Amino acid sequence: MGEQVPSPVQVRLDELHARVQLNCEGEVATYIPALGKADPALFGLALATHDGHVYESGDTGVGFTIQSVSKPFVYALALYDRGLNGVLERVGVEPTGEGFDALRLEPETGRPLNPMVNAGAIVTASLVNGDDWGQRFQRILDGLSAFAGRELRVDHEVLASEERTGDHNRALGYLLRNAGVLEGDVDKALAVYFRQCSVVVTARDLAVMGATLAGGGVNPVTGQRVVGADTTEHVLAVMATCGTYDFAGEWLLRAGLPAKSGVAGGLVAVLPSQLGIGVFSPPLDRRGTSVRAIAACQELSARFGLHLM
Ligand code: DON
Repeated sequence: MGEQVPSPVQVRLDELHARVQLNCEGEVATYIPALGKADPALFGLALATHDGHVYESGDTGVGFTIQSVSKPFVYALALYDRGLNGVLERVGVEPTGEGFDALRLEPETGRPLNPMVNAGAIVTASLVNGDDWGQRFQRILDGLSAFAGRELRVDHEVLASEERTGDHNRALGYLLRNAGVLEGDVDKALAVYFRQCSVVVTARDLAVMGATLAGGGVNPVTGQRVVGADTTEHVLAVMATCGTYDFAGEWLLRAGLPAKSGVAGGLVAVLPSQLGIGVFSPPLDRRGTSVRAIAACQELSARFGLHLM
């Protein structure tokens, strides 16, 4: 029996992967010490289409913590549970022009500026349905798993590392409670946020999660509806304007796709109605986005004509 001929998309994805692999710029994050152990050579690139086909190249099955890439998906769950206005009362939708950990709230309302920065994500996690913090985290873990189409778990080593070094986020938590937008026990709210960031995914998972946003909330691999189509529209809008923090303008200019980055080196990008892109490569630029993920998405966008504008 002859070998199966790879599809043209697969061939082009493998070529692009080989080219981008040669880029060795950037530094692995170390402010969460356990992340510093990551191998800088790792690079996985996956595309999941609206009809559930997944193309993969490189290290797409290697697990890493989702970190900030969780934020748009948890925002989707909060929007689904509370409605747009229920979430807007507590979390704004304006870009900050600052880094992911900016200590800044809207002066008049006390709201964090958007759900993609840490302050906004801490409040967003507290808005997900649940009678207590344990139920809220379970809803988040089940929701992220439904977006990925498989049961996800927490990396307890990274979680412990972030809990030991997470005082900046705790400080944000106290500011948020003082401003009246975060309710209840700050430590418990932060425990949910830290656990959310420590969920393990692969580049393949991120592609399927992105494709679920692209498909109006239905996972194209499992067929499960995770959130509503109006919810994904809102999430994608905020990803486009705020998903890469103080790089969001240049990102949209060059890649032309809503996206979200994370400090473990993950990135999800979405072409609405068409596909999700999942990338993993640990070395980051100075704003906390994976260098190879930026390069891969810009090239994919240019070569496959994905730029939305
Ligand atoms: O809260 C933090 O600092 C991390 N758990 C997540 C930050 C992050 O991923 C920023 N993204 N580029």
